Amino acid sequence: MCGIVGYIGAREAFPILIEGLKRLEYRGYDSAGVALINSDHEMSIYKEKGKVSNLEQRAVGHDTSGSTGIAHTRWATHGEPSSVNAHPHLSESGRLALVHNGIIENYGNIKEYLTGKGYHFKSSTDTEVLVQLIEFVQQRFHLELGLAVLYALRRVVGAYAIAVLDREHPDEIICARKSSPLVVGIGENNSEYFLASDALPIVGYTKHILYLNDEEVAVIRCGKEITIKNLANSRDQVAPNVHDVDIDLDKLEKGGYPHYMLKEIFEQPRCISDCMRGRLMPSEHRIVLSAIHLHRDRLLNAGRFIIVACGTSWHAGLIGKQMIEQFCQVPVEVEYASEFRYRNPVIRQDDVVIAISQSGETADTLAAFALAKEKGALCFGIVNSVGSSIARASDTGIYIHVGPEIGVASTKAFTGQVTVLTLFALALGHEMGVLSQKLYEEHIEELARIPEKIKQILEHNDYIRDLARTLTYARNTLYMGRGMNYPVALEGALKLKEISYIHAEGYPAAEMKHGPIALVDENMPVVFVATHHRLYKKIISNIQEVIARNGRIIAIVTEGDQEVKALSSFVIEIPETLETLAPLLSVIPLQLIAYHVAVAKGLNVDQPRNLAKSVTVE
Ligand code: AGP
Repeated sequence: MCGIVGYIGAREAFPILIEGLKRLEYRGYDSAGVALINSDHEMSIYKEKGKVSNLEQRAVGHDTSGSTGIAHTRWATHGEPSSVNAHPHLSESGRLALVHNGIIENYGNIKEYLTGKGYHFKSSTDTEVLVQLIEFVQQRFHLELGLAVLYALRRVVGAYAIAVLDREHPDEIICARKSSPLVVGIGENNSEYFLASDALPIVGYTKHILYLNDEEVAVIRCGKEITIKNLANSRDQVAPNVHDVDIDLDKLEKGGYPHYMLKEIFEQPRCISDCMRGRLMPSEHRIVLSAIHLHRDRLLNAGRFIIVACGTSWHAGLIGKQMIEQFCQVPVEVEYASEFRYRNPVIRQDDVVIAISQSGETADTLAAFALAKEKGALCFGIVNSVGSSIARASDTGIYIHVGPEIGVASTKAFTGQVTVLTLFALALGHEMGVLSQKLYEEHIEELARIPEKIKQILEHNDYIRDLARTLTYARNTLYMGRGMNYPVALEGALKLKEISYIHAEGYPAAEMKHGPIALVDENMPVVFVATHHRLYKKIISNIQEVIARNGRIIAIVTEGDQEVKALSSFVIEIPETLETLAPLLSVIPLQLIAYHVAVAKGLNVDQPRNLAKSVTVE
C-alpha cells in the first residue's frame, strides 16, 4: 500500500511529483523516491528514508530538471524502510527505473533465475526483481519497452501497479496494474499525462481520468493517444475508457483544522446529509435506493446476506447485520475478508455478498468479493472511493458520498457506511413488507435529525479533550457496549489503538465476566457505551461489576441520564435517539477521545506508525 505518481509533458515534473506524493502519503510514508529524465536523456534518482519532506530535502541543490518522471512513497512489505529499499529501483544497466505498489509473490524464483543469468540485486525488495526481469526480456527479445513489460508481467504472480521509465526514451512512460489501483489523468489533447494510485494527486490538473483495469498495460506518449493492451492479448488494443471526475480540491485541504482526522470528525453532520441526499425523503415518508430496484428480485429473495470487510468497515458490517436481521428478517453473516477468502466458504446462488470498504481497494475484501462473484452470488458494494476496484467489481451498490477521507483512522466513512446500511435495511425491509410502516416512518424522521444531533455532540469537543488528557497515562483500556453499541465499543477501541498506541479491547459488556474482568483494577479505564436501550439495566450491572474491582468508568450516556452518571468518573452526554440509530451518535465521542489522547501524547494523528490508509496487499 504505497503511493505512485508519474508525469510526462511540458512542465517540470519534480514539483508535480512531490506534491502528488504528499497527497498520497496516507498510503505509506516510511520512505520515498523519484526518477527524472531530462531532454539530454540523463536520469536523476533521489531516494530517502522517511516522509516525502525528507526526499524533498535530499534533492535540494541537485539537478531535478526534466519533464518526465515517476515517484513513490512506500509502506514496506519486503525489505525494511531504507534509502536502498526505497523506490524507484534501477535495472542492471541503469537504463530502466521502476516504481511499484503491491507484492510480487514469486519474486524468489525469478530472482534465482536472473541471478543465474548474471543479474545483481542491491535491495532486499521484491520490486527490484521486476525491473531486472523487464530488462532481461527487453534485451533477450529486442522488444520495445511496452511489449517487454507485457511479456515480463506474464511471468509474475502477485499484485502490482507499476510505472517504468527508459532513459533512452524520455518521451514515454509504461504503466500496468493487477489488483493494485492505478489511474491516468489526460491533459487537453493528450498534451500531458499524469498517473497515480488514485485521483487525488491528479484532479488539480485534469478532470479526464482513466481507471486502468486489471492486467492492462498502458503506453503513454505525449501528444499521442494512450495505448492499452491486456496481458492475455499482446496484439489488440483496449479502447481507453475516460471518465470526467469532479473532486473539489478544497475538500483535500485541512480547512483550518490541525489534523485531517479532526476535520473529518467535524465534517460528519454534512457528510451524513450528503450521504442521505436524494435517498432519504422525509417529506414523502420514503427511502429511495436505485441499487434495490436494479436487482429487486435477487435482493427480495436473498437467502442470506454475507458482509465481507476489514477493520472499521467490518465494525460497520456488524451494525448492518443487526439492522438487516431486524428490519428484513433475513440471516446475515459478517466475515473478516482475510479469513473468508481462504476458508473455502459455502456461497450459494441466492446469497447476496456485501463488500464494505472506504478505499474500495482493500486487497482481502476485493478477493473475497471476487470469490463471491465466482460462486454466483450477487455482489453488492458499499464504497466511498468512486471508481475504485471494489466499486467496479460490484453488480450493484451504494456510494457513501462522504468525500475523500485522508486521515488513516477512519471516522466519517464509518458513520457514512452505517448510514447507508441503515437506509438499505429500512428500504429493503419495507419493500419486503416485513418492516411496519410505522417503524419505517419513525426511522425516516429520526434519521433526518441525526446530522443536527451530531453537531450537538461536537460542541462537547473541549470537555472531551480535557477528559481525554486524563487517559494519556493508560497502557490498557477496555471498551464495553451491548446490542447496537457493542460494535461501537469495538470501533472506539480500534480508534484508540490506531492513533494513541494504547492497547484497547472492545467487548460485549456481558462477556466481561467471562475473562476480561481479570484485567480490571484502579489503573484500567473502562469506557462504557451506555445509552438508553432495551439492555440499559443490564449494562448498569456490568458497570457495577467493574466498580467492584476499582475500575475507572467513563460512560457515553443519553442526555439527562442520572443512574450511570452516579456510577462514573466521567460521562459524555449525547442526544436521545432510536436504539437502532444510537451508533451514529455514540461513536462520535469515542472518535474524539482517541483523537485528543493521541494529540496529548504528541503523536502523528493523521499518519500513525505502521499503518496506511488503504491496504492493497494481503
Ligand atoms: C480504520 O481506521 C483503519 N484505517 C482500517 O482498519 C480500515 O478500516 C481497513 O483497512 C479497511 O479499509 P477499507 O474500508 O478502505 O476497506
